[in-house]
Amino acid sequence: MDVLLCGDIDAEEWRRWREALAAAMPEARWLSADDARRQPSAVLAAVVANPPPGSLQAWPRLALVQSLWAGVDRLLTDRSLPPDVPIARMVDPVMNRAMAETALWATLSLHRGFFDYARRQREGRWQQHEQRRADEVSVLVLGFGQMGRAVVATLAAQGYRVAAWRHTAGAAEAGTRVGHGAGVLQAELAQADIVINLLPLTDATRDLLDAKFFAAMRHGAALVNLARGGHLVDEDLLAALSSGRLRHAVLDVFRGEPLASGHAFWGHDGVTVLPHAAALTDVRSAAAVAVANLRALRDGLPLKHVVDRVRGY
Ligand code: NAP
Ligand code: GLV
Repeated sequence: MDVLLCGDIDAEEWRRWREALAAAMPEARWLSADDARRQPSAVLAAVVANPPPGSLQAWPRLALVQSLWAGVDRLLTDRSLPPDVPIARMVDPVMNRAMAETALWATLSLHRGFFDYARRQREGRWQQHEQRRADEVSVLVLGFGQMGRAVVATLAAQGYRVAAWRHTAGAAEAGTRVGHGAGVLQAELAQADIVINLLPLTDATRDLLDAKFFAAMRHGAALVNLARGGHLVDEDLLAALSSGRLRHAVLDVFRGEPLASGHAFWGHDGVTVLPHAAALTDVRSAAAVAVANLRALRDGLPLKHVVDRVRGY
């Protein structure tokens, strides 16, 4: 099987992916776009990492696009994507666990005031604050998919009061309230001390984290955005922080990445910035996930984690 490997990656990263993929599936030919152009009709699948628009239109027999990213929002903006070719996204338990670790670190740091202590150290101030128990802290997780579920399970195991919000109706799970719809969101926001965003970026979720959303949050609550920068209206967050409505924000993702050097988030005392590192794709495990789908394609078996293009995730 000839597989195109392409994306927004440099030559070194391309080589690393090719090595891992070839080790997992030595019987395939792993081709760069330049190689593949010599015989376009041989390309049956593409393994991609946010490829530039137009990269996937020149392969007449393309039967699968396997993303190395969990979020496919950027990929789906490519208007030249062949309409009938299935797009599968990366779903990897290793990534889910990394996300749960990041969410736990952010939640613990906010709950125990460790970001405040770090600031007091910079100011040379020795000052303790009140210590709350985990079961006195309410966390709302937006999104109850691969990442959201892993985060909910990890936080619940630490004793936090966790609720989740999703698109479709679903029953409570393992003691967690799981709701859907705008009314439920308003009610949950009014109760949560910490809100963690793990939604996909779609037409329905773009700009969700805006002034209206912050106005519905509890006074002094905190936001953790681990999903996409396009969910957040930056100026509205800055206003909510300066009015004291929000106490702190942990931001891993931004509208423009890397975050511009002059952006107000960098030096803001109420903002913790991460460089889109909440859950990186792990080359070792992700190569095995991608290859499992390529083998399913080759063997005529059902593909896994195919994106619903209309829904956008
Ligand atoms: P997923 O399994 O597809 O789960 C998405 C969840 O969001 C589902 O529970 C879905 O509800 C819910 N949802 C979608 N649209 C909604 C809406 N309009 N209103 C309410 N809920 C909605 O996705 P995932 O694997 O957990 O990944 C989530 C996102 O995390 C990715 O899209 C990506 O943007 C981000 N991510 C970030 C990093 C990082 O390093 N920062 C790494 C990986 C992923 P239903 O269950 O009802 O369908
Ligand atoms: C990272 O943000 C991903 O979507 O994999």
